[in-house]
Amino acid sequence: MNILFVGDVFGSAGRHIVREHLPHVLESNTVDLLVINGENAAGGFGITPQLAEEIFDWGADVITTGNHIWDKREIFDYMAVSAESHGRGRRVLRPANYAAGTPGFGLYQGSLANGQRYAVINLQGRVFMSSCDDPFRKADELLGTVARESGAKVILVDLHAEASSEKVALGWYLDGRVTAMLGTHTHIPTADERVLPGGTAFQTDVGMSGPYDSVIGVETELALHRFLTGMPGKFEAAKGNPKMCATLISCDGATGRSSGIRRIMLGE
Ligand SMILES: [Fe+2]
Ligand SMILES: [Fe+2]
Repeated sequence: MNILFVGDVFGSAGRHIVREHLPHVLESNTVDLLVINGENAAGGFGITPQLAEEIFDWGADVITTGNHIWDKREIFDYMAVSAESHGRGRRVLRPANYAAGTPGFGLYQGSLANGQRYAVINLQGRVFMSSCDDPFRKADELLGTVARESGAKVILVDLHAEASSEKVALGWYLDGRVTAMLGTHTHIPTADERVLPGGTAFQTDVGMSGPYDSVIGVETELALHRFLTGMPGKFEAAKGNPKMCATLISCDGATGRSSGIRRIMLGE
């Protein structure tokens, strides 16, 4: 089976480029499971219920997020559903290693129309990020939950983290235990995609689906001003040179072992 993961959709430029390219990528690769990181869908900062609905309408099975998840407060109620729900609000994930009691969940276990079970885990790193619980031990705990509850073998992990070292480390830590361990958050795709010896597809960062004539999505002038002066200022989403960054993983649905990983970057 094939899994497509689309990197952080950034603002209207990101939404536009994904809308344009996603249909033919899905069709030409017979994608079974589609996971999209939507943490920057709303003008670069957060995601609204309306935008989550739009991303689900594109065909996403699960939306992962990261540190921008709470930027738009409208999403709090949308995600405040019961653990047993399979509705759309339940399938917007926030990092699982956030404080207990925050809205939403970091693990979703579902099944495709053909009965194939899968699980998606969203985690956040701790290096150069705001504080959260240990993503390594949280991954162990959630893999225990998956084994106990659904027995899904196809498991995709989105580690939303700044440091390459932390993402590479979690890749090795989970090798042979998950189908894919993909990094997000830096908005820059890395060229290190590979299947690790235990059968886990790995890439340090999938990259953003958004405007690349920018500083990781933000208008270059505004970001430069902050670097040059240290003064606060409003960040706005850029528009130029949009690309859709995604990663395609092939795996055995019965064992969850990955057999291939391919990086995709499509633009105008
Ligand atoms: Fe992001
Ligand atoms: Fe992020």
